[in-house]
Amino acid sequence: MAVTRTFSIIKPDATRRNLTGAVTAKLEESGLRVVASKRIQMTKEQAEGFYGVHRERPFFGDLVSFMTSGPVVVQVLEGEDAVKRNRDVMGATNPADAAEGTIRKAFAESIEANSVHGSDSDENARIEIDFFFKPEEIVG
Ligand code: CMP
Repeated sequence: MAVTRTFSIIKPDATRRNLTGAVTAKLEESGLRVVASKRIQMTKEQAEGFYGVHRERPFFGDLVSFMTSGPVVVQVLEGEDAVKRNRDVMGATNPADAAEGTIRKAFAESIEANSVHGSDSDENARIEIDFFFKPEEIVG
């Protein structure tokens, strides 16, 4: 299995509850390595651009409001089959459906305030990493 990269966001519901370390510990325990990380306040423009594929969805406005409601931690994660590994440890989008041991089962408050985002494909991982990081900010 190849070592690849994925993109992660620790969302405002988690930073608000001081769970940055707890979430990161679960990522690391799953075999992923944090090779870039920064805490930022996302702007409305950034959130709208990042979630552009969801623009037509009924929850788009609420999603943008939520993602700009407090600090987030954007990260690049590296490991074997990183996209799938990260999605496995995140758990289902809706915490009501998330399996035991996953980040969303442990910490998420709702389908919106679900503590973490993770890329859904290698191609989107590259796009999402480029959205927030310069190459020199990633140190593997
Ligand atoms: P994320 O992986 O960050 O990508 C899009 C986000 O939209 C998703 O996680 C959810 O947190 C959020 N969201 C809010 N409401 C819904 C919904 N009804 N269905 C799917 N996603 C939703």
